[in-house]
Amino acid sequence: METPFLSMQKVSKHYAGVRALDEVDFTIREGEIHCLAGTNGSGKSTLVKIISGVVQPEKGCSITIAGKEVSHLSSRFSKQQGIEVIYQDLSLFPNLSVAENIVISEQVSGPSRIVSWKKGREKALQAMKMIGISLPLDCTVSELSMADQQLVAICRALTREVRLLIMDEPTTALTRKEIESLLKVVLDLKSKGIATLFISHKLNEIMEVAQRVSVLRDGKMIGCFSCKELSATKLEFAMTGANTTYDPYHVQPDSSQTPLVEIRQGAKEGNFKDINLCIYPGEIVGLTGLLGSGRTELALSLFGLNPLDAGQMYVEGKLAKIRNVQDAMDYSIAYVPENRLADGVALDQPISKNLVITVLDEMLGKLSTLDAKAVQNASQHWIDALGIKVPSMHSPVKTLSGGNQQRVVLAKWIATRPKLLILDNPTVGIDIAAKSSIHAVIKRLAEEGMSILMISDEIPEVLYSCNRVLIMNRGRIVKSFITDETTEDDIQSFIVTHAV
Ligand SMILES: Nc1ncnc2c1ncn2[C@@H]1O[C@H](COP(=O)(O)OP(=O)(O)OP(=O)(O)O)[C@@H](O)[C@H]1O
Ligand SMILES: [Mg+2]
Repeated sequence: METPFLSMQKVSKHYAGVRALDEVDFTIREGEIHCLAGTNGSGKSTLVKIISGVVQPEKGCSITIAGKEVSHLSSRFSKQQGIEVIYQDLSLFPNLSVAENIVISEQVSGPSRIVSWKKGREKALQAMKMIGISLPLDCTVSELSMADQQLVAICRALTREVRLLIMDEPTTALTRKEIESLLKVVLDLKSKGIATLFISHKLNEIMEVAQRVSVLRDGKMIGCFSCKELSATKLEFAMTGANTTYDPYHVQPDSSQTPLVEIRQGAKEGNFKDINLCIYPGEIVGLTGLLGSGRTELALSLFGLNPLDAGQMYVEGKLAKIRNVQDAMDYSIAYVPENRLADGVALDQPISKNLVITVLDEMLGKLSTLDAKAVQNASQHWIDALGIKVPSMHSPVKTLSGGNQQRVVLAKWIATRPKLLILDNPTVGIDIAAKSSIHAVIKRLAEEGMSILMISDEIPEVLYSCNRVLIMNRGRIVKSFITDETTEDDIQSFIVTHAV
């Protein structure tokens, strides 16, 4: 299957002051699984928007789809050629059912405006059958897990004649297991001659099933490589132009001091039990384990969103009743959820305003008006500290690339300077180079005395940024590793052997 399905030459796109794409050449073959890699802001989503006809490239490029030269690529034409894009937010209707979501676009744009739900349901069933899944047709989409919502989005794409399925950051909200099932679906599509283009920062898993990877850096195409030939280090180098180094976090707690938080015999029906946990000032504690291990539920209990049924919690040595978020905030505990984009940014508002929104009372000048200089200084501080790539701090957040938007949300919570900062997968969707700068920020905060609890699926992430890693399994903390004394393989094999 060497025939190109889509081939583009010299594609360029400028936004005000930003060269998003610079004479990029790009090809996808029929039935190929292809990755598009690059650091945050390197132009991946822009390229996808051009392929799907949402954004127009500048003059001087040539585009061929299925052997035909295309002079103007509109979104209608792109769809007619069988190109479907699943964006990170999936664009589903949360209040509609699975069946309605799968067939909705057809129902709305079909020739007869009369909606036949019987036919619709059949069509939805057919699409699910194509990839060998079965979801409850009448279930409301908002009740499904992220992984299942993703499958709904894929089924919706499959109700049309798809030849190229593009997924922009499909794996960010999925666990390892869910990614594996998604990849099975993609392999199945491949066997039907459907090509898939993946854009993801979690490349390890995808590289195992993909044939080729194209790498963008600062809007330029660095090259297209065979996945078999490219090691993780080489890929990282192609993306960043440098080799990333990791500095482990060596700080060990002084167990004679009072822990910042302590849970004794904590339990929550159906979530976790027998939890004994201390986090000392200046510690970065990693919390990992398989899906359903109870780690997020445990973290949420510290933030008042999932209060304990039994056991006690202490903050700075005193018995603490944390029954709701306000209680947690009164104890100076902050939580940055994994689903940061849905949760956390005002897209139309300036970057600066988003960065200082949680600490506005510190920005008040005389007469309680906002001190513009203070806002500017604080914003610049966070832009520098987290290396947020911005054209100007006054631009709206929506003009930032996905990963840079994530950094804005992270910064805004860190700015509240909590005593305990709980981070749920803090670097999901963030590129390799930026990950290490975010880890460096977290380490600096810990060195200044903040306690950090970091939930992560990525073993290297907890190994290199934490001083201790706790493994949860079926609601219990089953192991604690001192990161200085362990390896990635030790942790991984422990998790695998206890997964049954
Ligand atoms: N509508 C827009 N207005 C102005 N600049 C934009 C707009 N959309 C994207 N950009 C800029 O174009 C560049 C490329 O952005 P793009 O979203 O393509 O990056 P990306 O590779 O998808 O990054 P990420 O991994 O963070 O999602 C960035 O510098 C971004 O700020
Ligand atoms: Mg993007």
